[in-house]
Amino acid sequence: SVLIIDYGSQLTQLIAKRARSVGVYSEVVPYDTLWTEFNVDSYRAFIISGGPMSASDATAIPLPQTLLRTEKPMLFICYGAQRLAHELGGLVESSQKREYGSTVITLTVTDDPLFRQWPEESCVLMSHSDHIEVLPSDCMPLAYTNNGVLAAFKHNHKPYYAVQFHPEAEETVYGNALFENFLLTICGEGPNWSMQYYLEEEVKVIRQCVGDQLVLLGLSGGVDSLVSAAILHRAIGKQLYCVFVDHGLMRLHETQQVQSYVQEHFDFNFIQVDASQQFFSALEGIIDPEEKRKIVGKLFIDTFLQVATEQIHQHHVTFLAQGTIYSDVIESAHGGKSQLIKSHHNVGGLPEELSLQLIEPLRYLFKDEVRALGLALGIHRDLIMRHPFPGPGLTIRVLGEVKESYVKILQLADNLLIEELHTSGWYEKVSQAFCVFAPVKSVGVKGDNRSYEYTIVIRIIQSDDFMTGKFAKLPWDLLEKIGARIVNEVAHVSRVVYDITNKPPATVEWE
Ligand code: XMP
Repeated sequence: SVLIIDYGSQLTQLIAKRARSVGVYSEVVPYDTLWTEFNVDSYRAFIISGGPMSASDATAIPLPQTLLRTEKPMLFICYGAQRLAHELGGLVESSQKREYGSTVITLTVTDDPLFRQWPEESCVLMSHSDHIEVLPSDCMPLAYTNNGVLAAFKHNHKPYYAVQFHPEAEETVYGNALFENFLLTICGEGPNWSMQYYLEEEVKVIRQCVGDQLVLLGLSGGVDSLVSAAILHRAIGKQLYCVFVDHGLMRLHETQQVQSYVQEHFDFNFIQVDASQQFFSALEGIIDPEEKRKIVGKLFIDTFLQVATEQIHQHHVTFLAQGTIYSDVIESAHGGKSQLIKSHHNVGGLPEELSLQLIEPLRYLFKDEVRALGLALGIHRDLIMRHPFPGPGLTIRVLGEVKESYVKILQLADNLLIEELHTSGWYEKVSQAFCVFAPVKSVGVKGDNRSYEYTIVIRIIQSDDFMTGKFAKLPWDLLEKIGARIVNEVAHVSRVVYDITNKPPATVEWE
């Protein structure tokens, strides 16, 4: 297997993900690992991540000598590459012109094994403010950016490869080919990892950790908690207690769909609570989006805690499982050496309150891997490929005050939209699609009668990470059909509009 050494980059887990995607098992450890107590010989290769430091600063963290001494193949990324150049006697300087974002590089050696399958020119992700000004004499350059910055080099005598760019980032178009070349060809590693392998290993780990104890899991209806439930069920069956709090603010039939799937396929203990009326009452008269979010969040936690506490005491539950995935972890800065971006509701909090031990079977997986695991567990594709859905549900898609009658209209319109996207094959081509209910009335004609009714907004977004996004350019004919169906088939709607704003400046949701 391969060892990845984390020097504090936000992208370190993406290196592990790239390794997995070419079928190689890897482990991530921090740079301050005690190497003398570590079985270095059991790894075939090492990868040094990027990091926030300046390689030539007196305080910069040096490369791990213990690993360098093994003379096994090593890949140095960004900070790693600069630090290697620095330690071998090269010169790293702060740049006048920083490079951030997608950048074109040109190979100077076209037949190097690291760049097999790469075209002479291609796009990579650069993110650095220092650059390598003078390469050590033992190294040769392999690629430059169009600004003349060294982008890749290798050692003349040792199996060391270094890249200034981030091959692990999605923006690096041939990233997978680079990892395939390094791991499979240069290191002669694997393939030794597959989702099926992960599933079997994770099942063993859960069984070992839980023993004959009981585990509680909150099912939200979303993909992550469903996949967590499925893998826990595979591992411990009836030792699992699932609590499902229905807030009445899901898409049409979605709650029933998830509930009946769970009941048909799993035989764990399933506790459902219909709290929809409490949620509608709590939201009465509230129009401010943030206040609505807070009310729903708090009521959800309170309801869950109440039911959970009953179950815990009644059955002596000792573990709490959560469907935390890696993006939740990194956003809360629990992801190793990286810095805090924002706190996240999925991480921390609950276990302390319930004094239970925490299990997070998806903690190191990315969303697409969670989906792949869900499919490997045999969950139906329609459930697994669902778009992300916000925690507060339709609360933030009914603009202003949330009334049950508005939610009903929204659910019907939204259901028609999703149905048409599935039929036309567009659902899996877009990142998120939904309707918004605007309590704005406009005049229309239905049959021979004047109508004066509400507005439905259609919002469809293409995005990699939801930090930015573009509205989807759906064919006009399809939009026309969806608009006509909503006005004709959903009572109290007299107008449908399409949101053509990108993010930024707009957000994905309307509230
Ligand atoms: P925005 O509207 O911030 O949305 O551009 C980006 C992504 O986040 C989702 N979103 C939320 N998810 N609770 C959630 O769990 C929320 O309060 C929330 N607000 C937005 C949104 O659906 C999109 O995928």
